[in-house]
Amino acid sequence: MDEPTIRRRIDDDLPGCVAALATVQAADRYPVDWPADPAGWLTPAGLVEAWVAVDGDEVLGHLALTRPGAELAATLGLPERQLLAVARLFVGTAARRRGVAVRLLDQAVLIAGAEGLTPVLEVEEGAEAAVRLYERARWRHAGTSTADWTTADGRTARLRAYVAPVEAGLSSRPS
Ligand SMILES: CC(C)(COP(=O)(O)OP(=O)(O)OC[C@H]1O[C@@H](n2cnc3c(N)ncnc32)[C@H](O)[C@@H]1OP(=O)(O)O)[C@@H](O)C(=O)NCCC(=O)NCCS
Repeated sequence: MDEPTIRRRIDDDLPGCVAALATVQAADRYPVDWPADPAGWLTPAGLVEAWVAVDGDEVLGHLALTRPGAELAATLGLPERQLLAVARLFVGTAARRRGVAVRLLDQAVLIAGAEGLTPVLEVEEGAEAAVRLYERARWRHAGTSTADWTTADGRTARLRAYVAPVEAGLSSRPS
């Protein structure tokens, strides 16, 4: 695979995003149930902008930036207006472990920083790959809350809330 291009999502990307999401949902149950309107699910309330990783015409991965809800801000103990939340992050199963998610995450950190905002996110504690990703990128686990939905394995979801490190992300560090 060539180096993926990271760029803002345009409407024409949505079918490719939905196709990549279908591989993710089948493999990981993310989201737990296939949405009735998958393109709508990729465009959540409070969306600021969305980014994609592409290889030519193929969408490899996706990330949305949203205004955080009051609950996430409360979990973090930070003022809502200072935060920008990462959401809808996924990488299609054929493009995994090639640094695509790290590059999308770094882009989110750059954008938030340019706006003077702190990047934050929350992840269900059973999503092991995502938890590893964030902790390897040195995001800080700053609180946990209980959600009102049930995971694919029948647990009440527990959401770990993270704050990005102040310095640049993983892919821009020397190895
Ligand atoms: C989590 C996810 C986005 C990672 O995407 P990815 O492009 O494969 O991740 P990267 O290649 O950038 O991985 C960077 C680091 O994260 C960690 N990591 C990623 N996937 C991992 C896995 N399956 N197991 C353990 N660690 C993992 C590793 O430290 C990895 O570095 P390494 O490959 O050098 O060991 C992808 O697995 C996914 O889409 N999962 C389902 C959806 C999901 O849970 N989204 C998060 C919602 S909050």
